[in-house]
Amino acid sequence: MVKITVVGAGNVGATTAHLLALKGLGDVIILIDIVEGLPQGKALDMLESGPVEGFDCRVIGTNNYEDTKNSDIVVITAGVARKPGMSRDDLLQINTKIVKSVTEQIAKHSPHCILIVVSNPLDAMVYVASETAKLPKNKVIGMAGILDSTRFRSFIAAELGVSVRKIEAMVLGGHGDDMVPLVSYTKVHGKPITGLLPKEKIAALVERTRKGGGEIVGLLKTGSAFYAPASSVVEMVDSIVNDKKKVLPCAAYLDGQYEINGYFIGVPAKLGKNGVEEVVELELNEEEKKQFKETANHVKELIDSIIL
Ligand code: NAI
Ligand code: 2OP
Repeated sequence: MVKITVVGAGNVGATTAHLLALKGLGDVIILIDIVEGLPQGKALDMLESGPVEGFDCRVIGTNNYEDTKNSDIVVITAGVARKPGMSRDDLLQINTKIVKSVTEQIAKHSPHCILIVVSNPLDAMVYVASETAKLPKNKVIGMAGILDSTRFRSFIAAELGVSVRKIEAMVLGGHGDDMVPLVSYTKVHGKPITGLLPKEKIAALVERTRKGGGEIVGLLKTGSAFYAPASSVVEMVDSIVNDKKKVLPCAAYLDGQYEINGYFIGVPAKLGKNGVEEVVELELNEEEKKQFKETANHVKELIDSIIL
């Protein structure tokens, strides 16, 4: 039996829980939030979509961590989302408190789980969760790179008028506007993008990707993206639950890889039943190395400012 808990029944959490049920990932899905009635109402609504959609998994809403006990995977989406004019970093203090308190409960009730962190600022919140949970480092993972890469892929597909399925792209680094879309690894129908679009066009797509989160915040005005983020979480859960060992860009703990020691940042990681089973080291060109160093320094500065 696979039990998955989603903490935070807001936009990302509820969409994630529903997608998990629709895709048959998990026998029991627990949706937990601090607001009374919210996870119960949304979970019941999801459960009632089961007969139409043809899923049998149980979806349960709760405010009580006892109900989450012995979860195999826990996704943390609890926290505040940004509003127009805010950067993800502006959420540091408030979300540190939330992620810390949530993780304490999760570690107490599910000491063997794999933890996927979504709350922002992402790379810093993964660090907070890891320090609090004291789980093995391979069992704490942040979701961001899949989202940033799927944005890049969708922009390229629209620009070239090709299927998204034929586009390979990988965005590494911290989940901020200094993230690093790897142009040298971007391919369309197996061909390098550099041969298909002029330099200035590629630079514009890279820039749009870097600011992709802000573009949605600017449109929504009351919160941030959740459909593509939830799909990205679900791809991670699928690779773990079904031991698919897909190499996906995720915030993983680095222990010397990419010349980084002691914190989490977006890199290609092989995800299987043990969580992060390998960090894949790609060869970066000089410009990509420089950009990666900059984003890593930014993440480190943020982490150094955390008071736990
Ligand atoms: P939301 O405001 O719709 O939902 C957040 C939920 O967390 C609310 O229901 C709230 O009641 C709950 N919550 C707050 N404190 C809690 C606590 N102590 N325990 C349990 N639940 C608690 O926000 P949304 O859009 O779902 O975003 C959630 C977080 O995910 C934000 O920090 C956002 O910035 C981040 N995010 C990160 C992405 C990434 O790529 N890593 C992508 C999208 C969102
Ligand atoms: C995003 O990139 C909010 O971090 C989130 O949409």
